[in-house]
Amino acid sequence: MGKKLITFLLNEELKQLSDTDPNLTVLEYLRDDLGLTGTKEGCASGDCGACTVVTAEMGPGGERLQYQSSNSCIALVGSLHGKQLLTVEHLRSEKSLHVAQSCLVNSHGSQCGFCTPGFVMSLFCYRKNHNEPDLETIKEALGGNLCRCTGYKPIIEGAQKMFLDKSRDQFDSREPITIKALNEIRQVKEEIGLIAKAGKFFSPVTSDELASLFCRYPSARLVGGTTDLALEITQSLSSFDVLIAVDRVQEIKTIVDSEGFLSVGAGVSIEELSRALVGVYPSLKEVFVRFGSLQVRNKATIGGNLGTASAIGDMAPILLALDAILVLRRGDVTRQLSISEFFISYKETALETSEYIERILIPRKTENEVLRVYKISKRLDDDISTCSLAIWLRLEDELISDVRIAFGGLSEIPKRAAVSEDCLRGGRLDEHQFIRAMSAVEADYAPISDFRASSSYRLIVGKNLLWRTYLDIHGDGLRKLRVTEID
Ligand SMILES: Cc1cc2nc3c(=O)[nH]c(=O)nc-3n(C[C@H](O)[C@H](O)[C@H](O)COP(=O)(O)OP(=O)(O)OC[C@H]3O[C@@H](n4cnc5c(N)ncnc54)[C@H](O)[C@@H]3O)c2cc1C
Ligand code: FES
Ligand code: FES
Repeated sequence: MGKKLITFLLNEELKQLSDTDPNLTVLEYLRDDLGLTGTKEGCASGDCGACTVVTAEMGPGGERLQYQSSNSCIALVGSLHGKQLLTVEHLRSEKSLHVAQSCLVNSHGSQCGFCTPGFVMSLFCYRKNHNEPDLETIKEALGGNLCRCTGYKPIIEGAQKMFLDKSRDQFDSREPITIKALNEIRQVKEEIGLIAKAGKFFSPVTSDELASLFCRYPSARLVGGTTDLALEITQSLSSFDVLIAVDRVQEIKTIVDSEGFLSVGAGVSIEELSRALVGVYPSLKEVFVRFGSLQVRNKATIGGNLGTASAIGDMAPILLALDAILVLRRGDVTRQLSISEFFISYKETALETSEYIERILIPRKTENEVLRVYKISKRLDDDISTCSLAIWLRLEDELISDVRIAFGGLSEIPKRAAVSEDCLRGGRLDEHQFIRAMSAVEADYAPISDFRASSSYRLIVGKNLLWRTYLDIHGDGLRKLRVTEID
C-alpha cells in the first residue's frame, strides 16, 4: 500500500501528516503535538465548547472561503484534509487583537478565562458568516459554549459590538492566497488518508470507492462527523484499526429534489439538512436548533445519526413519522428499506456486513398534511432528548384519514406507536380521539427508568405531547396543557 497523507493548512502553514494514529483527535494534536494550548479541553465529549476551532474550506464556485466552527475534542485529524485550521492563536494580527477578542475585553466578557478561547472562536466564525448581528442567531452560535462565571449578557453584548468594526481582517486580505494554497492541496498526488501502526484511515472521494473499501475492510467503522464515534475514543478509550470517512464523497453529500421526495445523501450535515427541511416542514425548526450545538450540527451527519441506532436520536422519530425510505448500499448492490424496518433491537440495525446508508428519501409534504415535532430535554440547548414525539397526520374534512406517530426515548429502539395510531386513524380531530390515543401510549411502549428520567415520567410526558399536538393543531396553544396522567 502506497504512502498516504493528510494535508491541510494550519493558519498559513502547510502541514502534512502521514504516520499518525488516525484515532488522534484534533485537540490532542494541537495541544500535545504542536504545543498550541490556547485551545482548551473541558469535557472531551463535545459538550462545553472550550475546544472550539474554526475550519475554512473553499465554498461552491471556489471563489470564497466558508467558515465553520467545530469541537476539536471530537474531531479526528483525518478530517482536516483540504481545510484551513484556525485556532485562537491565529487571530491576533501584528498590530492588535482580532475584533472577536477585543469585543470580549471591552464588554467584560471574561472572568476566569477558561471558556474564553472557545467563545472567541465561535464569535470569530459568527463574524465571518454574518454581515449584521441578530440576537437569535448569536444565541444559536454561542449555544455550544459554556461559561460558568461571566454570564452570557456581556458576551452577547460583545458579539453585537463586533459589528461596529467594519474593517477587513487578515483572513479577508489573504483569502485569494489561502484559496490558492487549498487548491494546490487538491493536486497532491499521494493517496489521501493515514497508514500507521495504530490504524488506517481512508478518505475515499467516490461512492464506488467507499463501497469497495468497506467490502475490503468489513470490520471498519464508517466515519461521518465523529460526533458520536469519537466519544468511543475519548470516553470509552477505544481505538479503531480501520476508519473510512464519508466526508469527501460528494455523491452522498447532496440534497436532490426529486419528484415526490427529497433525496438526502447520508453525508449531509444536520445543519445543511435543517436549511433544506425547515422550509418544507416549519415545525422542525425547533428540533434542529436544539440538536446539539452549532459546532455539533456543523459536523454531525444524518447517516451517522441513524447509524448510531440511538433510541433518543432526534432524526429517527421524524423520519419514521414521515415514512422515509433508506437506500442501503453494499458493494455494487443497493436496496431500499422502509425506515420502520431499519431498527432491529438496542443499537442493532438491519445493516448487513459492509453495508451502509447511502441516501434517505424523505417524502415531500402534500396538501392536508400536518407534521408536529416536539423535543423534551433537561436543558434547552445542546442536550440530547429525554423524550421526543414526531406525529404526521393527513386531515380530510375534519377527519384524520391517516396518521403516523413515533416517539423517541420510550423504547429501546425508535418505533411507531401502532396502537395509538389506530385510535386516531379514521376518527375525528377532536379531544376524545386524542385522549384515547394518549391512553394507548402505554400499550405501545414500556419505557425504562435511567439517569435521564423514570419510566413513569417518560409515559406522562409522551401522553402530554400527544395532547399538546391536539392543542397546537386546534390553535389553543398551551393554555389547556394537561400535566397529569389521563385514565
Ligand atoms: C454534545 C453533543 C450533543 C448531541 N446532541 C444530539 C441531539 O441533540 N440529538 C441527536 O440526535 N444527537 C445528538 N448527538 C449525537 C450525535 O451528534 C448524532 O447522533 C450525530 O448525528 C451523529 O452523526 P455523525 O456524522 O457525527 O456520526 P459518527 O459519529 O461519525 O458515526 C456514528 C455511527 O454511525 C455510523 N455511520 C456513520 N455514517 C454512516 C452511514 N452512512 N451508514 C451507516 N452507518 C454510518 C458510524 O460508523 C458510527 O457507528 C450529540 C452529540 C454530542 C457530542
Ligand atoms: S472539550 Fe468540551 S466540547 Fe470539546
Ligand atoms: S469566564 Fe470562567 S467559565 Fe467563562
